[in-house]
Amino acid sequence: MDFTQKHILGIDHLSVAEIDLILNTAANFKEINNRDIKKVPTLRGKTIINLFFEASTRTRTSFEIAGKRLSADTINISASASSVVKGETLEDTAMNLEAMHPDIIVMRHSASGAPHYLAKRLPRSSIINAGDGTHEHPSQALLDMMTIREHKGRLDGLKVAIVGDITHSRVVRSNLIGLTRMGADVRVAGPGTMIPPGIERLGATVCRSLNEALEGADVVMMLRIQLERQGKSLLPTLREYSRFFGLNPSNLALAKPDALVMHPGPMNRGVEISTSVADGPQSVILDQVENGVAVRMALLYLVGGANNDESTIQSSQSKGVTA
Ligand code: CP
Repeated sequence: MDFTQKHILGIDHLSVAEIDLILNTAANFKEINNRDIKKVPTLRGKTIINLFFEASTRTRTSFEIAGKRLSADTINISASASSVVKGETLEDTAMNLEAMHPDIIVMRHSASGAPHYLAKRLPRSSIINAGDGTHEHPSQALLDMMTIREHKGRLDGLKVAIVGDITHSRVVRSNLIGLTRMGADVRVAGPGTMIPPGIERLGATVCRSLNEALEGADVVMMLRIQLERQGKSLLPTLREYSRFFGLNPSNLALAKPDALVMHPGPMNRGVEISTSVADGPQSVILDQVENGVAVRMALLYLVGGANNDESTIQSSQSKGVTA
């Protein structure tokens, strides 16, 4: 199957076949990350700009590593070190960057819809959304789906509980759309002040308590409270939040014995998740981070205009190293 999307703006734009293609491509690329020399020539000559207007550890680093492992030239720009601090607009910044002929711009921005705006304004570059406001974080949902599929062998029919600040999380929105599209049954739980009205329309079942969400779950995904996106405090105290919505060994026992524990990061240990669960045998949190590199390699490869059949990936893997 050919991948015909120019941009990756959200999971919402991807079909089941396209999600499958991305996950299969990522699974093929994953092996490169375990080699002594972790580099293939697949995107040699391509230029990728990572344009981050918000803080990031995992997403920015893994997009940079992914680009470098595919031999692209990668450039990182953070808003605080750019002419944005002198008052330049997003549009002017992006148009100036496009004048330097990048092939792909990976962008994170606090405004929902910012990557979609750029995709309309820039005629040449492919845009990849690395998280926009409270809207979507598609590469995170794809790496989450890859991790679940690796451990469970499927997505279809799984019971996935997502717990925390549902209103302000772009991770939950992308996962909800992606997981339900792939046949999973997604429940959400959190304080009433952090459950947005109408979330059921995206396919979620809203649970009244953490325990109800955990009961019989195959996957438990915990979320950070996004204090930076809340205009006012939506909680009495973090201690109370932890008491009612924190994951610990005793409430995790309500889920299936082999349930996966996930967290997109950054974690607030002792708030939404106890250290013994985060570091425990059911945790796949670092597998998520590892798969983040493979998924971002797949996205760069697929929108980077490489020939998209699996034999090409295999052959670029076997060709091995470039300087
Ligand atoms: N999961 C995630 O987006 O992490 P970063 O904010 O560190 O990129």
